Amino acid sequence: MGKYRMKAEKTVKSLVLGILMSCLCACGTAQSAEPDRIQLGAAYYNQNDTFLSQLDECLKEEISRLEKDGFEVTVTTRDAAGSQRTQDDQVKELIEAGCNVLCVNLADRTDPSEIIDAAREHNVPIIFFNREPVAEDMMQWEKLYYVGADAKLSGILQGELAADAIHADSRIDRNKDGIIQYVVLEGEPGHQDAIIRTESAVDTLKKKGIRLEKLSCGIANWNRSQAQNRMMQAIGQHQNQIELVLANNDDMALGAIDAYEKLNYTESALPVFFGIDGTDAGLQAVADGKLAATVYNDKEGQARAMAALAAALVSGEGMEEIEFVNGRYIYLPYYKADKHYAETGK
Ligand code: GAL
Repeated sequence: MGKYRMKAEKTVKSLVLGILMSCLCACGTAQSAEPDRIQLGAAYYNQNDTFLSQLDECLKEEISRLEKDGFEVTVTTRDAAGSQRTQDDQVKELIEAGCNVLCVNLADRTDPSEIIDAAREHNVPIIFFNREPVAEDMMQWEKLYYVGADAKLSGILQGELAADAIHADSRIDRNKDGIIQYVVLEGEPGHQDAIIRTESAVDTLKKKGIRLEKLSCGIANWNRSQAQNRMMQAIGQHQNQIELVLANNDDMALGAIDAYEKLNYTESALPVFFGIDGTDAGLQAVADGKLAATVYNDKEGQARAMAALAAALVSGEGMEEIEFVNGRYIYLPYYKADKHYAETGK
């Protein structure tokens, strides 16, 4: 083969390679110039709920962070104000408006079928959060996920915080009978976090050697003013006997404190109060010494998990990096939030 022919062949080869390469690069550019578009529809059972309104802020922040990863994002939020019917309609509207992933905080956690049907019909995956659907409903379709927290752990941590406080301060047992008289303020009936939190907090206290006497248990639906009313009733019935208040969330613990403030109780006659959530107001009350302690419900972690899952579902990439329980559940842990935590964030 002549020298020139070899050279010519080489040139042709490198030309072809060059064309191929530039074609490949161009294709690459064309793809990344069209970022994945996340159109997220977020449906809340009730945006007046303190914890959820703070979780919503975190979710918006996490979703907008995805822009840095090359996603184009929009979030549309709807508030069902407690009605499943309203939420069913809102979710259908979100789907009609082009949402390609849904985050649903069910109004009625036992009634997601209409939403699941509508989503399946349009092939829009759903990330349920905070209000866990029952297991059979999660089996209705393979594109259903859940992000939440381990309810049992929150009760255990609340029980441990209360047991430690009681062991450390004998003044909590004000009547010195060796038994702690307590009141429970419970969240919505039927909510996975309500029953489990109460049971595991009480069990933990008992396991830690605290003798308990339940004076009353009032349902206050996560709500501060309802808790204030329930607590006023309990105080009316039991006056100075109440030594401990276990509330399923911070807002209800704060409502209980409101009741005592309204009745002008002196500090030495107050019970100790424990909450769950670590909302801004809850942590402030812990820092102020009004709430003995709370348990941090990791809204930042939940929002991060929801955003990562939404991105993976829309782009079809990164699912393998997400750690699921039972294939489709993500549970974030809770943390103890005592005075030191409330003051320092550590
Ligand atoms: C719980 C939270 C409550 C309330 C409830 C609503 O996890 O502790 O404060 O937000 O969810 O479903």
